[in-house]
Amino acid sequence: MRILVTGAAGLLGGALVAEARARGHEVVGLSRTDLDVTDAPLVRRVVSRHRPDAVVHCAAYTAVDRAESEPDLARAVNRDGARNVATAAAECGAELLYVSTDFVFDGQKRSPYVPNDETGPLSVYGQTKLEGEQAVTEALPGSLVVRTSWLYGGQSGFVPAILRRAAKGEGLRVVGDQRGRPTWAPDGAATMLDLLERGAHGVWHVAGGGECTWLELAREAVRLRGLDVEIEAISSHDFGSPARRPAYSVLDLAATEDLLGRRMGDWKDALARYMSGD
Ligand SMILES: NC(=O)c1ccc[n+]([C@@H]2O[C@H](COP(=O)([O-])OP(=O)(O)OC[C@H]3O[C@@H](n4cnc5c(N)ncnc54)[C@H](OP(=O)(O)O)[C@@H]3O)[C@@H](O)[C@H]2O)c1
Repeated sequence: MRILVTGAAGLLGGALVAEARARGHEVVGLSRTDLDVTDAPLVRRVVSRHRPDAVVHCAAYTAVDRAESEPDLARAVNRDGARNVATAAAECGAELLYVSTDFVFDGQKRSPYVPNDETGPLSVYGQTKLEGEQAVTEALPGSLVVRTSWLYGGQSGFVPAILRRAAKGEGLRVVGDQRGRPTWAPDGAATMLDLLERGAHGVWHVAGGGECTWLELAREAVRLRGLDVEIEAISSHDFGSPARRPAYSVLDLAATEDLLGRRMGDWKDALARYMSGD
Protein backbone atom coordinates (compact mmCIF):
# COMPACT_ATOMS: atom_id res chain seq x y z
CA MET A 1 0.00 0.00 0.00
CA ARG A 2 1.02 3.61 -0.44
CA ILE A 3 0.40 5.20 2.97
CA LEU A 4 0.50 8.90 3.82
CA VAL A 5 1.04 9.65 7.53
CA THR A 6 0.25 13.09 9.00
CA GLY A 7 1.95 14.20 12.21
CA ALA A 8 4.89 12.00 11.23
CA ALA A 9 7.30 13.86 13.54
CA GLY A 10 5.16 13.00 16.55
CA LEU A 11 5.44 10.01 18.85
CA LEU A 12 2.85 7.78 17.21
CA GLY A 13 3.34 9.16 13.70
CA GLY A 14 7.05 8.33 13.86
CA ALA A 15 6.31 4.80 15.06
CA LEU A 16 3.73 4.33 12.31
CA VAL A 17 6.11 5.46 9.59
CA ALA A 18 8.78 3.06 10.87
CA GLU A 19 6.42 0.11 11.19
CA ALA A 20 4.75 0.66 7.82
CA ARG A 21 8.16 0.90 6.09
CA ALA A 22 9.34 -2.25 7.86
CA ARG A 23 6.30 -4.02 6.42
CA GLY A 24 7.24 -2.97 2.92
CA HIS A 25 4.62 -0.29 2.40
CA GLU A 26 5.49 2.82 0.43
CA VAL A 27 5.27 5.56 3.06
CA VAL A 28 5.05 9.34 2.84
CA GLY A 29 5.54 10.78 6.33
CA LEU A 30 4.58 14.45 6.65
CA SER A 31 5.38 16.63 9.65
CA ARG A 32 3.63 19.85 10.55
CA THR A 33 6.15 21.85 8.47
CA ASP A 34 5.36 19.68 5.43
CA LEU A 35 1.61 19.79 5.91
CA ASP A 36 -0.36 21.98 8.30
CA VAL A 37 -3.65 20.10 8.47
CA THR A 38 -5.61 23.28 9.25
CA ASP A 39 -4.89 24.56 5.72
CA ALA A 40 -7.69 22.88 3.74
CA PRO A 41 -6.54 23.77 0.19
CA LEU A 42 -2.99 22.69 1.02
CA VAL A 43 -4.21 19.39 2.47
CA ARG A 44 -6.20 18.76 -0.68
CA ARG A 45 -3.25 19.54 -2.95
CA VAL A 46 -0.70 17.54 -1.00
CA VAL A 47 -2.87 14.47 -0.48
CA SER A 48 -3.98 14.32 -4.11
CA ARG A 49 -0.39 14.76 -5.31
CA HIS A 50 0.75 11.67 -3.40
CA ARG A 51 -2.26 9.53 -4.46
CA PRO A 52 -2.19 7.37 -1.32
CA ASP A 53 -4.19 4.16 -0.86
CA ALA A 54 -4.54 5.10 2.81
CA VAL A 55 -4.03 8.16 4.97
CA VAL A 56 -3.12 7.67 8.63
CA HIS A 57 -4.00 10.86 10.46
CA CYS A 58 -1.79 11.18 13.55
CA ALA A 59 -1.42 14.96 13.59
CA ALA A 60 -3.27 16.52 16.50
CA TYR A 61 -3.23 19.26 19.08
CA THR A 62 -2.14 17.05 21.99
CA ALA A 63 -1.39 19.57 24.78
CA VAL A 64 -4.25 18.39 26.98
CA ASP A 65 -3.89 21.06 29.67
CA ARG A 66 -3.09 23.96 27.35
CA ALA A 67 -6.17 23.14 25.26
CA GLU A 68 -8.34 24.39 28.14
CA SER A 69 -7.13 27.92 27.43
CA GLU A 70 -6.77 27.48 23.64
CA PRO A 71 -10.02 25.75 22.67
CA ASP A 72 -10.25 27.42 19.26
CA LEU A 73 -6.80 26.29 18.26
CA ALA A 74 -7.39 22.76 19.59
CA ARG A 75 -10.66 22.57 17.63
CA ALA A 76 -9.08 23.98 14.47
CA VAL A 77 -6.53 21.15 14.50
CA ASN A 78 -8.47 18.26 16.04
CA ARG A 79 -11.85 18.76 14.41
CA ASP A 80 -11.33 20.93 11.33
CA GLY A 81 -7.90 19.48 10.53
CA ALA A 82 -9.33 15.96 10.74
CA ARG A 83 -12.19 16.96 8.46
CA ASN A 84 -9.73 18.46 5.95
CA VAL A 85 -7.69 15.26 5.89
CA ALA A 86 -10.77 13.01 5.58
CA THR A 87 -12.22 15.15 2.79
CA ALA A 88 -8.95 15.02 0.87
CA ALA A 89 -8.70 11.24 1.39
CA ALA A 90 -12.28 10.80 0.17
CA GLU A 91 -11.57 12.86 -2.96
CA CYS A 92 -8.74 10.61 -4.01
CA GLY A 93 -10.43 7.34 -3.01
CA ALA A 94 -8.08 6.62 -0.10
CA GLU A 95 -8.91 4.86 3.15
CA LEU A 96 -8.59 6.95 6.32
CA LEU A 97 -7.32 5.91 9.73
CA TYR A 98 -8.06 8.59 12.33
CA VAL A 99 -6.35 8.21 15.69
CA SER A 100 -8.55 9.11 18.65
CA THR A 101 -8.31 8.86 22.41
CA ASP A 102 -9.65 7.30 25.61
CA PHE A 103 -10.31 10.90 26.74
CA VAL A 104 -13.58 10.84 24.77
CA PHE A 105 -15.01 8.98 27.83
CA ASP A 106 -16.01 10.47 31.17
CA GLY A 107 -14.42 7.71 33.26
CA GLN A 108 -17.52 6.90 35.31
CA LYS A 109 -17.59 3.22 34.26
CA ARG A 110 -15.80 0.55 36.23
CA SER A 111 -15.51 -1.99 33.45
CA PRO A 112 -13.63 -1.52 30.18
CA TYR A 113 -15.13 0.87 27.65
CA VAL A 114 -16.33 -0.82 24.45
CA PRO A 115 -16.22 1.15 21.19
CA ASN A 116 -19.94 1.97 21.15
CA ASP A 117 -20.17 3.06 24.79
CA GLU A 118 -21.57 6.50 25.33
CA THR A 119 -18.93 9.23 25.12
CA GLY A 120 -18.69 12.18 27.50
CA PRO A 121 -15.39 14.04 27.27
CA LEU A 122 -14.29 15.99 30.34
CA SER A 123 -11.76 18.23 28.62
CA VAL A 124 -11.46 20.48 25.59
CA TYR A 125 -8.91 18.05 24.15
CA GLY A 126 -11.28 15.08 24.56
CA GLN A 127 -14.21 17.05 23.18
CA THR A 128 -12.31 18.22 20.10
CA LYS A 129 -10.94 14.72 19.42
CA LEU A 130 -14.52 13.41 19.60
CA GLU A 131 -15.60 16.13 17.19
CA GLY A 132 -12.77 14.92 14.96
CA GLU A 133 -14.23 11.39 15.06
CA GLN A 134 -17.59 12.77 13.98
CA ALA A 135 -16.07 15.00 11.29
CA VAL A 136 -14.10 12.19 9.63
CA THR A 137 -17.05 9.83 9.72
CA GLU A 138 -19.20 12.48 8.05
CA ALA A 139 -16.60 13.41 5.42
CA LEU A 140 -15.60 9.82 4.71
CA PRO A 141 -18.15 7.25 5.90
CA GLY A 142 -16.37 3.99 6.61
CA SER A 143 -13.31 5.72 8.05
CA LEU A 144 -11.32 3.63 10.50
CA VAL A 145 -11.36 5.38 13.90
CA VAL A 146 -8.87 3.94 16.38
CA ARG A 147 -8.94 5.07 20.00
CA THR A 148 -5.76 4.50 21.92
CA SER A 149 -4.55 5.50 25.38
CA TRP A 150 -1.56 6.54 27.48
CA LEU A 151 1.00 6.43 24.66
CA TYR A 152 4.66 6.44 25.61
CA GLY A 153 7.97 5.90 23.86
CA GLY A 154 10.92 7.87 22.57
CA GLN A 155 12.91 10.15 24.85
CA SER A 156 10.22 12.49 26.10
CA GLY A 157 6.93 12.18 27.89
CA PHE A 158 5.88 10.62 31.18
CA VAL A 159 8.17 7.59 31.53
CA PRO A 160 11.48 9.29 30.61
CA ALA A 161 10.57 12.25 32.83
CA ILE A 162 9.97 9.93 35.79
CA LEU A 163 13.22 8.09 35.19
CA ARG A 164 15.24 11.30 34.90
CA ARG A 165 13.85 12.64 38.15
CA ALA A 166 14.28 9.33 39.92
CA ALA A 167 17.91 9.08 38.74
CA LYS A 168 18.61 12.54 40.21
CA GLY A 169 17.01 11.47 43.47
CA GLU A 170 14.34 14.13 43.15
CA GLY A 171 11.11 13.61 45.07
CA LEU A 172 8.32 12.13 43.00
CA ARG A 173 4.58 12.53 43.38
CA VAL A 174 2.40 10.76 40.86
CA VAL A 175 -1.34 10.56 40.39
CA GLY A 176 -2.73 7.32 41.77
CA ASP A 177 -6.44 7.68 41.05
CA GLN A 178 -6.58 7.43 37.24
CA ARG A 179 -6.68 3.95 35.70
CA GLY A 180 -5.97 3.18 32.09
CA ARG A 181 -3.95 1.10 29.64
CA PRO A 182 -0.43 2.30 28.86
CA THR A 183 0.49 1.74 25.22
CA TRP A 184 4.04 1.62 23.88
CA ALA A 185 3.85 3.61 20.63
CA PRO A 186 5.47 0.92 18.40
CA ASP A 187 3.00 -1.70 19.67
CA GLY A 188 0.07 0.66 19.12
CA ALA A 189 1.34 1.51 15.62
CA ALA A 190 1.67 -2.18 14.68
CA THR A 191 -1.85 -3.01 15.83
CA MET A 192 -3.30 0.01 14.04
CA LEU A 193 -1.61 -1.11 10.82
CA ASP A 194 -2.97 -4.62 11.35
CA LEU A 195 -6.49 -3.14 11.49
CA LEU A 196 -5.88 -1.03 8.39
CA GLU A 197 -4.47 -4.00 6.47
CA ARG A 198 -7.49 -6.08 7.47
CA GLY A 199 -9.79 -3.44 5.99
CA ALA A 200 -11.47 -2.63 9.33
CA HIS A 201 -14.01 0.23 9.36
CA GLY A 202 -15.73 2.06 12.18
CA VAL A 203 -14.50 2.51 15.75
CA TRP A 204 -11.87 0.22 17.31
CA HIS A 205 -9.78 0.24 20.47
CA VAL A 206 -6.02 -0.35 20.52
CA ALA A 207 -3.96 -0.29 23.74
CA GLY A 208 -1.57 -2.35 25.81
CA GLY A 209 -3.03 -5.28 27.75
CA GLY A 210 -3.65 -5.12 31.50
CA GLU A 211 -4.38 -1.88 33.32
CA CYS A 212 -2.78 0.34 35.95
CA THR A 213 -2.60 3.82 37.41
CA TRP A 214 0.04 6.41 36.51
CA LEU A 215 1.53 5.70 39.93
CA GLU A 216 1.85 1.98 39.16
CA LEU A 217 3.36 2.79 35.77
CA ALA A 218 5.93 5.09 37.38
CA ARG A 219 6.79 2.55 40.08
CA GLU A 220 7.26 -0.23 37.53
CA ALA A 221 9.53 1.95 35.37
CA VAL A 222 11.66 2.88 38.37
CA ARG A 223 11.81 -0.76 39.52
CA LEU A 224 12.91 -1.94 36.06
CA ARG A 225 15.67 0.70 36.07
CA GLY A 226 16.83 -0.66 39.44
CA LEU A 227 16.34 2.64 41.23
CA ASP A 228 15.37 2.64 44.86
CA VAL A 229 13.14 5.70 45.17
CA GLU A 230 9.88 6.30 46.92
CA ILE A 231 7.06 7.62 44.77
CA GLU A 232 4.32 9.35 46.65
CA ALA A 233 0.72 8.87 45.57
CA ILE A 234 -1.20 12.05 44.90
CA SER A 235 -4.83 12.55 43.89
CA SER A 236 -5.84 14.15 40.60
CA HIS A 237 -7.52 16.85 42.63
CA ASP A 238 -4.33 17.67 44.56
CA PHE A 239 -2.23 17.50 41.39
CA GLY A 240 -4.51 20.22 40.07
CA SER A 241 -4.10 20.00 36.28
CA PRO A 242 -6.13 22.53 34.30
CA ALA A 243 -7.83 19.74 32.29
CA ARG A 244 -10.01 17.10 33.92
CA ARG A 245 -9.10 13.53 32.99
CA PRO A 246 -11.21 10.38 33.25
CA ALA A 247 -10.64 8.47 36.51
CA TYR A 248 -11.12 5.22 34.61
CA SER A 249 -10.45 4.97 30.88
CA VAL A 250 -9.60 1.31 30.35
CA LEU A 251 -10.40 0.57 26.70
CA ASP A 252 -12.02 -2.77 25.97
CA LEU A 253 -9.86 -4.64 23.45
CA ALA A 254 -11.98 -7.76 22.88
CA ALA A 255 -13.28 -6.80 19.42
CA THR A 256 -9.80 -5.89 18.20
CA GLU A 257 -8.30 -9.07 19.67
CA ASP A 258 -11.04 -11.20 18.10
CA LEU A 259 -10.58 -9.65 14.67
CA LEU A 260 -6.80 -9.96 14.75
CA GLY A 261 -6.76 -13.36 16.46
CA ARG A 262 -4.22 -12.34 19.09
CA ARG A 263 -4.18 -10.74 22.50
CA MET A 264 -2.53 -7.40 23.23
CA GLY A 265 0.68 -7.89 25.22
CA ASP A 266 0.64 -6.89 28.89
CA TRP A 267 1.76 -3.31 29.59
CA LYS A 268 4.52 -4.49 31.96
CA ASP A 269 6.13 -6.61 29.22
CA ALA A 270 5.89 -3.72 26.76
CA LEU A 271 7.45 -1.34 29.29
CA ALA A 272 10.31 -3.79 29.83
CA ARG A 273 10.89 -4.03 26.06
CA TYR A 274 10.85 -0.23 25.76
CA MET A 275 13.30 0.19 28.62
CA SER A 276 15.67 -2.47 27.32
CA GLY A 277 15.92 -0.45 24.09
CA ASP A 278 14.26 -3.21 22.05
N1 LIG B 1 -0.12 10.65 23.66
C1 LIG B 1 -1.15 9.96 24.13
O1 LIG B 1 -1.15 9.50 25.27
C2 LIG B 1 -2.35 9.73 23.26
C3 LIG B 1 -3.40 8.97 23.79
C4 LIG B 1 -4.51 8.73 23.00
C5 LIG B 1 -4.58 9.22 21.71
N2 LIG B 1 -3.57 9.98 21.23
C6 LIG B 1 -3.68 10.47 19.85
O2 LIG B 1 -2.64 9.88 19.10
C7 LIG B 1 -2.27 10.75 18.03
C8 LIG B 1 -0.78 10.97 18.05
O3 LIG B 1 -0.43 11.56 19.28
P1 LIG B 1 1.08 11.64 19.79
O4 LIG B 1 1.10 11.16 21.18
O5 LIG B 1 1.99 11.01 18.78
O6 LIG B 1 1.24 13.20 19.82
P2 LIG B 1 2.45 14.15 19.40
O7 LIG B 1 3.75 13.47 19.65
O8 LIG B 1 2.14 15.45 20.03
O9 LIG B 1 2.26 14.23 17.83
C9 LIG B 1 1.28 15.03 17.23
C10 LIG B 1 1.93 15.71 16.05
O10 LIG B 1 0.95 16.51 15.39
C11 LIG B 1 1.61 17.69 14.97
N3 LIG B 1 0.68 18.78 14.72
C12 LIG B 1 0.12 19.62 15.62
N4 LIG B 1 -0.63 20.53 14.98
C13 LIG B 1 -0.54 20.25 13.65
C14 LIG B 1 -1.08 20.82 12.50
N5 LIG B 1 -1.87 21.90 12.54
N6 LIG B 1 -0.78 20.27 11.29
C15 LIG B 1 0.04 19.20 11.21
N7 LIG B 1 0.59 18.62 12.28
C16 LIG B 1 0.29 19.13 13.49
C17 LIG B 1 2.57 18.00 16.08
O11 LIG B 1 3.57 18.89 15.60
P3 LIG B 1 4.25 19.92 16.63
O12 LIG B 1 5.01 19.08 17.61
O13 LIG B 1 5.09 20.76 15.74
O14 LIG B 1 3.13 20.66 17.29
C18 LIG B 1 3.10 16.61 16.43
O15 LIG B 1 4.25 16.29 15.67
C19 LIG B 1 -3.09 12.02 18.23
O16 LIG B 1 -4.23 11.96 17.41
C20 LIG B 1 -3.51 11.96 19.68
O17 LIG B 1 -4.72 12.66 19.89
C21 LIG B 1 -2.45 10.25 21.97
